[in-house]
Amino acid sequence: TAFRRTVVVVDGPSGSGKSTVSRSVAERLGFEFLDTGAAYRSLAWLGTVRGTDLDDADAVTALLPEFVAGYAIALRPGERWVRVGDHDVTTAIRATAISAAVSKVARVQAVRDAVNALFRRLLADGAAPGVVAEGRDLTTVVAPDATVRILMTADESVRIARRSAEKAGEDAARVAATVTERDAADSKVVDFLHAADGVHVLDSTHLDLPQTVQAMMDLITAAVPEE
Ligand code: DC
Repeated sequence: TAFRRTVVVVDGPSGSGKSTVSRSVAERLGFEFLDTGAAYRSLAWLGTVRGTDLDDADAVTALLPEFVAGYAIALRPGERWVRVGDHDVTTAIRATAISAAVSKVARVQAVRDAVNALFRRLLADGAAPGVVAEGRDLTTVVAPDATVRILMTADESVRIARRSAEKAGEDAARVAATVTERDAADSKVVDFLHAADGVHVLDSTHLDLPQTVQAMMDLITAAVPEE
């Protein structure tokens, strides 16, 4: 590995629990936590407030210098904030409109190249002894040389049920359709449903949250005996 600290990367579809579980594991280990999807969401937010046509790859690419210069995200697992320049976008990037639009920016190769360079820098640097990062292509493209690589999965019906629980009050059929559509759009950009060589599969279909956290801890402990 090219990294001088422990780097754990977790990929998987939305609703697999990777975000909650990764954050919790990072907290336990005293590691940093990096949510990579927040970068794609923040770029989609920037394009939306600028009135950019997100179907125009060149127009999206033109946003990159400003985005890269102004993007900042909390790396302590107990903190939650995301900024683009002077704007705190923590809440805005979770809006349904952003979730629906984000695949459009994520499929632009120049965008992926720029944010991946940013992610590699955040994984490599930092004062904590390690970092847990979650996304879609971290195990394959961003950090194939990470200390531990994990693909989190869960049956679609279980992922839909978890998303519905998070979005209590919203129409259940609508939530289900959103999960299915996001998966379909996302999987055209990167294959996050199949484990690459050397990637550990963590299937949370039949596990509750504490059990899934423990399963991830076990994978890390096996790879890094001193943790
Ligand atoms: O994990 P999330 O829902 O916040 O991700 C938002 C979007 O970003 C999702 O549509 C897929 C995309 N994404 C990606 O293409 N590569 C990553 N490493 C992380 C997210």
